[in-house]
Amino acid sequence: MRKSIIIGNWKLNGNQNMVNELILKIRQELDQIIVSCTVVIAPPMVYLERAAHALVGSNILLAAQNVDINTIGAFTGETSVQMLKDIGVKYIIIGHSERRTLHKENDILIAKKFIAVKEMGLIPILCIGETEAQRKSGSTYIVCAHQLDSILKILGTSDIFTDVVIAYEPVWAIGTGKSATPKQAQDIHKFIRNHIAQYNIKAAQEILIQYGGSVNSINAAELFMQPDIDGALVGNASLKADTFALIVKSCK
Ligand code: 13P
Repeated sequence: MRKSIIIGNWKLNGNQNMVNELILKIRQELDQIIVSCTVVIAPPMVYLERAAHALVGSNILLAAQNVDINTIGAFTGETSVQMLKDIGVKYIIIGHSERRTLHKENDILIAKKFIAVKEMGLIPILCIGETEAQRKSGSTYIVCAHQLDSILKILGTSDIFTDVVIAYEPVWAIGTGKSATPKQAQDIHKFIRNHIAQYNIKAAQEILIQYGGSVNSINAAELFMQPDIDGALVGNASLKADTFALIVKSCK
């Protein structure tokens, strides 16, 4: 049985007060109830340690939104997996479309980040997904398969999809209010699982595949009812405690 995972990706939002208040409110909503999924928040890097303190005594876990491939040394401005592990981070988002597009991260760099995260025993959340133009041209499946295969090709092993979360985030659905329909998302999630099964059947059965892209408290429940959707990577809607809590509560 897969345990779904809901992650709030706060992106470039927040300040010290907001971090304290949002975590306090999320805890008020979720600490006293039994939730059936893993709950994770990904505040901006600079607030991760503050968030770690604010989460003491809670089951909510921490993710980072990015990481460098290097471990130590002259890499000005970067953060290593070790540093994130040191302050209690468990998950690291990599390959987000905003980083692929705005920061020109390519498949090789993403694969290196993926292995750096796994080597330190943390869990990569690998984001994949097609653009609007790719969807319109009918190449969604090809794009998703390519993004998975490029990791496999570079890393060259068949067990790299264990202890990994995949986030299917169609680029056209991110921040647009235009979520994929449950059926659209389910079709691609099933395709992703089948694709991984070609390499490793057990990993394919166990891997968590989240959906991301305009998830909110209204569309979440139906998305989560789909057999191959194991939770969500939530952007905007994770910045409001009550909405985020509703999404978590709708995960069965
Ligand atoms: P939105 O939920 O704001 O569409 O963002 C999705 C996303 O990019 C999560 O990583």
